[in-house]
Amino acid sequence: MLDLLQLTGKQRQFIDLLQRQQTVASLRSLCAQAGFDFNFINGFLLSGALNGYVQWQEHTQQTWALTAKGEDLAGVLPGFPLADRLLQGQRDRALLQAELGPAFSLNYGALRREQAVDLLDGDGEGTVAVLKSSVLGAYQQRQGVFEAIAAGQVLGASASSSLEWLQQQGYIVSRVETDYSLTVLPALQTLDLGDVVTTLTSELILSGQWRQADLKPYDIHAEVPNVAYGRPTILTQCIQRIRDIFLNMGFDEMSGYMVESAFWNFDALFTPQDHPAREVQDTFYLANPQTLPLPDDPALVQRVKQVHEANYGGQWTEDEASRAILRAHTTTSTARRLHQLQGKDGKYFSIDRVFRNETVDRTHLAEFHQIEGVVVGELLSVRTLMGYLTYFYERLGFKDLKFKPTYNPYTEPSLEVFAYHPLSDRYIEVGNSGLFRQEMLEPLGCGEKATVAWGLGLERIAMLLYGVEKLSDLIGPDIRF
Ligand code: PHE
Repeated sequence: MLDLLQLTGKQRQFIDLLQRQQTVASLRSLCAQAGFDFNFINGFLLSGALNGYVQWQEHTQQTWALTAKGEDLAGVLPGFPLADRLLQGQRDRALLQAELGPAFSLNYGALRREQAVDLLDGDGEGTVAVLKSSVLGAYQQRQGVFEAIAAGQVLGASASSSLEWLQQQGYIVSRVETDYSLTVLPALQTLDLGDVVTTLTSELILSGQWRQADLKPYDIHAEVPNVAYGRPTILTQCIQRIRDIFLNMGFDEMSGYMVESAFWNFDALFTPQDHPAREVQDTFYLANPQTLPLPDDPALVQRVKQVHEANYGGQWTEDEASRAILRAHTTTSTARRLHQLQGKDGKYFSIDRVFRNETVDRTHLAEFHQIEGVVVGELLSVRTLMGYLTYFYERLGFKDLKFKPTYNPYTEPSLEVFAYHPLSDRYIEVGNSGLFRQEMLEPLGCGEKATVAWGLGLERIAMLLYGVEKLSDLIGPDIRF
């Protein structure tokens, strides 16, 4: 029995169309004419919903379709353009060559293979001789049949020799198609479909008409189309992985500001006011705002000034420290955190964006992410630092680390970190680290404490983990990554 309430809008439209027919010779052509998807209607018919309303009979018919090789021809059979011109009486080789261009030899080869043509050399004026004009005629027919198949037309019996040839060349394949002829029974013709609402609209709800309407029940088990929804990028996935590792190691996440004062980026980190890293070649200075207020702790500013002047000599100026910049590292967040801690212990990390005035190439961009970390406590040493970093990189699958002494104004000792990359069989620099100096810790109020700290490159890790070669692939618009 047909459950009228369960019919979809499309099915109702189709029944409505059938009610106006007695017989249907080809369901396929009916669907094509009326704009129904044949496969959908076919499924409806085979579901048995129309049993007792429609009788149908299955037919199979052979059809033809272009193969990939056939599609590649872009509508022209090799051989046809030359055959066509020869049929029109053209024989001049130079002229034919000029007209067909580089395709001449391909065309000639095709006809020559069937011994239809030959080249005759007269005195400098070569001609193309026709040996078998029947082949030329065959090419004309083959081209016509080929075009008809490309256009999806039904072919008559006269096409058979061309079809055979096209199939041998691998330009077409035969397919068997199922079709149905229908007889519409009186039960359907007299069926009253009624007014069933298949799509609930906001108007129906607002006007209250839904109360009177017969509504098609929702089928919550119906299959819905597969939607290609968004996914986190590789970089975001990496950030999440790294965040989990540090959280599992008992670290808390900290964050800071992209726009910072030079004070938190350099001065609080014991970086002299004439340090080369502060120059515009390396650091982005802001035009608006040009300056930012110094911290709301005059004693801090005073202690920073003292330690700079005592160690580097000269005049430490608030003007230089107030300049607004895009932070060049996330150690700004660490400095702010140390100042907040005032000697309390803790373990913190951040994964944030930093900015440097770099020349952009396959491994450098003017902005990237740093994985910052700091441990504040007692009895921390270079061993502790190497232990934390080794443990962290091992969780990501980098088993082999090397540390190399380096220099930072704010750490002593300082260690560059290298990880072994099996694919390129070499060690790649992945970060920088060290133990903060007294000259930095003391003004921030952590003078009694020991620290280990690091700043690691996120993009480097992501490139190594996912085998990405160009940094721009990692963050660019290419969604295959
Ligand atoms: N700030 C350093 C950099 O950007 C990294 C670092 C952080 C080094 C903490 C030592 C301690 O390279």
